[in-house]
Amino acid sequence: MPLLVVVGAQWGDEGKGRFVDWLAAGADYAARYNGGDNAGHTVTVGKQVFKLHLIPSGILQAGVTAILGNGMVINPRTLLEEMDRLSQAGIEITPRRLHISYAAHLVTPAHQALDRALEAARGRGSIGTTGRGIGPAYTDKASRQGLRMVDLLAEDFPARLEERLTGANRTLQALGAPLLDIAAMNEEARLWAARLKDYVTDTSAELHRALQAGKTVLAEGAQGTLLDLDFGTYPFVTSSSTTAAGALTGLGLGLTAAQGARVIGVVKAFQTRVGGGPFPTEVHDDLALRLRGTGANPWDEYGTTTGRPRRVGWLDGVLLRYSARLNGLTEFVVTKLDVLSGLETIKICTAYRYGNEVLTELPYGATGLTAFEPVYEEFPGWQEDITAVRRWQDLPQAARDYLGRVQALVGAPLRIVSVGSERGQVIEL
Ligand code: GDP
Ligand code: IMO
Ligand code: MG
Repeated sequence: MPLLVVVGAQWGDEGKGRFVDWLAAGADYAARYNGGDNAGHTVTVGKQVFKLHLIPSGILQAGVTAILGNGMVINPRTLLEEMDRLSQAGIEITPRRLHISYAAHLVTPAHQALDRALEAARGRGSIGTTGRGIGPAYTDKASRQGLRMVDLLAEDFPARLEERLTGANRTLQALGAPLLDIAAMNEEARLWAARLKDYVTDTSAELHRALQAGKTVLAEGAQGTLLDLDFGTYPFVTSSSTTAAGALTGLGLGLTAAQGARVIGVVKAFQTRVGGGPFPTEVHDDLALRLRGTGANPWDEYGTTTGRPRRVGWLDGVLLRYSARLNGLTEFVVTKLDVLSGLETIKICTAYRYGNEVLTELPYGATGLTAFEPVYEEFPGWQEDITAVRRWQDLPQAARDYLGRVQALVGAPLRIVSVGSERGQVIEL
């Protein structure tokens, strides 16, 4: 199957990175199609823990060529830092196997400063962004004043950047925020071009050729379906198209490339979100601490990018079905099942109550969720440690029953379950 799209089915942090790493073992290309370094994908390989923000997680498999697609917004400073970190960890980072779309937009220090200043100005209504400049960079793209990777290579780049930074300073001043040191930034920007120029190419044409030649392309989504700019819990969303369809525009692939594609949804066994916005199945107090963890384990629910504690709750089956439909999931995988071990009872929200009505479909997508009260089905938990289980039949019956209900809600086959963060801690069905 030539095109595989891996997409987060919830509010991000489902464990996409670890599954892309797993699936990339059989792929020729791994390509990120949206977002920027707001993403944080953790992959554990033996004693090494990799935290990837911009470079696709597939890079950790030696035979893979990694692509940063046109749908991304890229901060050259953090990209270079990530390239250096990976090189130091023994991963080959060369123009041979890392290609960046000429059409990807740049995230500059101006975007970061504006992101923070705009969030501060929103006060209690803040979105809780990652502060990485993602919204302002996509704003510039949409208003046709963004700078792209190809501009970075042009002689007049320093002058164009200076013009943008000067403009940003005017806005920052109006917002009462600290101003940017333009001279220092111009100095740094000259280094970006020198170091990145050999990586910039036409990745859309490259992927087209690869698919024509029967190669396998794995498209790696960042964030999750419920953070999608169109279909997420607007305005508490990110600024890109996170759904599977975003892989086509975000990589420059035609609709025919999607024919026969596998669309793999990554579903965490419970629900989490970072930042503001509605979360009908959110839990608090002791149960929240139980699901989130104290931070003692590397997989506990604290943001990979910002370190913020993630909000946690029961799996939301109504939103999951919505996500399966929007992405056209052909299959799905479940992560972090091990975290549910030891609970007396496990709940899944299978409908919403709104006044006297019980809804199983969302009237306006993910809008207006705050008005709904979840209706739960309860499942008996299991007490066994399942982290060493590698076969479906060795899972406790209660765990299989829970997953069976999840599969019925998704309406597509469950392919893999992960029971730990290590590369090999998976059960293939
Ligand atoms: P992503 O953004 O979707 O790639 O997910 P993150 O990396 O932000 O968050 C997922 C976290 O869960 C990471 O720390 C992973 O190492 C960890 N993880 C992934 N799958 C499992 C699993 O099955 N069990 C446990 N305990 N941790 C997991
Ligand atoms: P990965 O790829 C979870 C959230 C932020 C905030 C909202 C907007 O690791 O799953 P932004 O900085 O994008 O403008 O913030 O989106 N957010 C994520 N939440 N995982 C992510 O990425 C996220 N990227 C952005 O917390 O609520
Ligand atoms: Mg993450």
